[in-house]
Amino acid sequence: MSLADCRTIELPVVAEPRGNLTFVESERHIPFPLRRVYYLYDVPSGAERGGHAHKQLHQLLIAISGAFDVHVDDGRERRSHHLNRPHKGLYIPPMVWREIDNFSGGSVCLALVSDFYEEDDYFRDYAEFKTSVDG
Ligand code: TYD
Repeated sequence: MSLADCRTIELPVVAEPRGNLTFVESERHIPFPLRRVYYLYDVPSGAERGGHAHKQLHQLLIAISGAFDVHVDDGRERRSHHLNRPHKGLYIPPMVWREIDNFSGGSVCLALVSDFYEEDDYFRDYAEFKTSVDG
């Protein structure tokens, strides 16, 4: 996997005068089976989340409310994405280091992920991640 696989995904929007609705269907709108959902909220100003890569896990991050920045790094190059719309997700495949910061007040980061929580799936040390990428 590389940053070329890391991309924004436009989700469907049902726009009506009474408000908008967005939905996500497993393996249709996201390129993986959905097994878990988690969300980050009440993030204090200046806080950073992430700081890890996953060995097997696929994720879609969505700014359900507010905005934040996601910095992705495949061990060779690094890019940044600004997420600020509930119908736009950032797909992060396995073996991509991510850092999330610049959370606006009241923002919520929704994560749709491909498997149950498993600590063994994490690289939490960048040097260890880089060594694994470089083979
Ligand atoms: P972590 O994935 O490091 O959070 P982030 O990347 O958003 O900064 O998880 C933080 C803590 O929460 C860590 O102790 C593991 C725990 N956790 C769960 O128990 N279940 C989960 O589904 C997730 C995502 C984390």
